[in-house]
Amino acid sequence: MLTAARWDQAGVEDVARFVAWLRALRQAAVSGAGAVQQTGPVDSAAMARQPSPDPRDPRDPRGLRSDAPLLDGWLSFTARAEAGELTPMSVPGHKQRQDLTGAVVAGDAPLYGGVDSIKHADVPLADAEARAAALWGADWCRFSVAGSTHGNQALALAVGGDGREIVVTRILHRSVLLGLVLAGLRPVWVRPELDEQTGLPAAVAVSTVRAALREHPDACGVFLGDPSYVGTTGDLAGHAAAAHEAGVPLLVDQAWAAHFGFHPALPAHAIQAGADALVTSAHKALPAYTQGAIVLARTERLPAARLNRAFEATHTTSPAGSIAASIDAARALLARDGHELCERLLRCVAGAKKQLAQVPGVAVLDGPGVEPTKLVVLLAGTGAHGYAIEADLVAAGMPLESADRDTVIPIVTIADDEDRVAAFLDVLVASVEQNRGAPRTPKVAASWTVVPQTVLSPREAFFADNEIVPASAAAGRISAELIAPYPPGVPVLAPGELITAEAIDSLREVKADGGRIAYAADPSLETFQVIAD
Ligand SMILES: Cc1ncc(COP(=O)(O)O)c(C=O)c1O
Repeated sequence: MLTAARWDQAGVEDVARFVAWLRALRQAAVSGAGAVQQTGPVDSAAMARQPSPDPRDPRDPRGLRSDAPLLDGWLSFTARAEAGELTPMSVPGHKQRQDLTGAVVAGDAPLYGGVDSIKHADVPLADAEARAAALWGADWCRFSVAGSTHGNQALALAVGGDGREIVVTRILHRSVLLGLVLAGLRPVWVRPELDEQTGLPAAVAVSTVRAALREHPDACGVFLGDPSYVGTTGDLAGHAAAAHEAGVPLLVDQAWAAHFGFHPALPAHAIQAGADALVTSAHKALPAYTQGAIVLARTERLPAARLNRAFEATHTTSPAGSIAASIDAARALLARDGHELCERLLRCVAGAKKQLAQVPGVAVLDGPGVEPTKLVVLLAGTGAHGYAIEADLVAAGMPLESADRDTVIPIVTIADDEDRVAAFLDVLVASVEQNRGAPRTPKVAASWTVVPQTVLSPREAFFADNEIVPASAAAGRISAELIAPYPPGVPVLAPGELITAEAIDSLREVKADGGRIAYAADPSLETFQVIAD
């Protein structure tokens, strides 16, 4: 007999047997038959474990589930949900029904109580994360369902405490800045080199980081973003050496680079280069669900207990099993087919660059220091406006990652192939021809050139009393808010920084040009939130 004490450890076959017994009991009661015996012993496998997977499951076309424990659990759970075998008395509230909010919840399975039972899901999760750690050569790994945003903030909380200084690139993503607010870290800004011809940022020089560490010997770490939003990469091994000589860890936001290190023609990933931690968005470069991210670390300079605490501090208690399973699947895919898929990606992008170089006035970012799978299309020589080209591409069903006046950036990943890239280039080139104008000098975006004057730490400014002032009175005051043209999401104004007339003008220019001004309390830029006098 299945007793209450053993119920939470029961395997699904036990439960199925128990349910069958209950049904038979009910049937017997209806038909007036005698008692029904439950047959067979109860074993202690997890409740959500399923009969051996069908290797021909069309929902797993590359047969990844045998190397992906979370994918395996997700496939099992959703197969039962689709077959109408589940009557969950647990969240999520849609109860696997699609007759209320509809198909939008299809495939949604919680990690806890879906992919595996609430009491057992940590086991396949730890297994999946250990497989990822091994693949990246790390000794600590966590899967996040809240993007590299969460991963960056977890690393900020892990690396140092309130009031400590940290060397940080100023072309950081806003999530790092909010990580500094959460942790109370004080930034020592380092700026990247700028490419004079294109106005785009290159990497931060190792000598710049070394100088910052010399001037701030109490800094608790170095936090860089590499590759940059435009795919420029630097000497991470040199940065790791500089950080380690100063006795501090190197943390790297590699949100765009989950494929790095999986083909000899690609740059090494940060852990391979000697960094202590990296954050990457599995949903950006890899075929994972939106929000899926991976945080990886070596624990010599970053204790695992602190990393775990920091990770959990801002992660949801209800992770989406579908997101976690897709990270697991992407990892299994990369482990098995990564070289071949990266090879195709490299070939596609190299071919695209070659073709675009034939179009008069078009240039692409290329050469040493640019990661070879990034396609940054430079339009200044054509006179065409990036927004007009973006509009044509959107109309053709090809939304872009990023467009401003002088640049369009499509994201090409291992999910693309020659045909898809060729179709994209056809529309892009036709649009360039239709939108040609007088060639111009590219504008350098404020996001890349901002030289902040920090008056208060991000945390002090975040919590300080603030007031709203008209734009005409904002210059000379201290910003209480973070304002970033998006993309790239790099703050032009950050909490605690002096507002300058140049910063206001550059934001207005982006807005006038049709760009999105993100996170501003007043996106019209008529007023600004400043620290109260
Ligand atoms: C450099 C960088 N870091 C972090 C992030 C945040 O990533 P996610 O959207 O996965 O939270 C982004 C997003 O675009 C980014 O560009």
